[in-house]
Amino acid sequence: MRVAVAVSGRGSNLEALLNALGPEAPARVVLVLSNRPDAGALERARAHGIAAEVLPDPADGADWLARLDRHRIDLLVLAGYLKLVPASVIARYRHLVVNVHPALLPAFGGRGMYGRHVHEAVLGSGARESGATVHLVDEVYDRGAILAQGRVPVLPNDTPERLAARVLEVEHRLLPAVVLAAAAAGHPVPLPETVESTS
Ligand code: GRF
Repeated sequence: MRVAVAVSGRGSNLEALLNALGPEAPARVVLVLSNRPDAGALERARAHGIAAEVLPDPADGADWLARLDRHRIDLLVLAGYLKLVPASVIARYRHLVVNVHPALLPAFGGRGMYGRHVHEAVLGSGARESGATVHLVDEVYDRGAILAQGRVPVLPNDTPERLAARVLEVEHRLLPAVVLAAAAAGHPVPLPETVESTS
């Protein structure tokens, strides 16, 4: 299964996915796309010898599709990609686009809910647990069907940074598990609730 990963930031989820997909894996990351030329994730891609391309206009669906076609992409993964994917791309790749989100959707999702904002909102709500979600992507932020979730405790002395680090551990296990299951099934499939972190 030929995978493209869209990123906007440092790329720790991309790195976790690349580490999980060994040479014999049924899926391979062959393209990394970013809306930001300075995204650290692009350097990670280049270090792994993977095509790394910057989207001059992230809203230009025709440009996306030309790149995805050129690399014969089967599955599109959003890993810290902060823009909305154009509707024409979603239409062409319906049920073949997944995103990892650092909270237990449907709570703490939607426009503006990314990075530190998410963890601040979780702590502000008094929630006793948080976690990560991998879901299908449609035309609306964080609305698509949930494929997998992993829960973590919210601890008394948590800061947004501490909680984010605990959730990221789960993300780094959950996203590769979803991609490997998609490669085995030929398309993304729901996973049983599995991944826990106690620390
Ligand atoms: C992750 O927490 C992801 O859930 C969110 O953005 C962050 C990206 O982190 N959408 P990284 O760039 O993969 O390290």
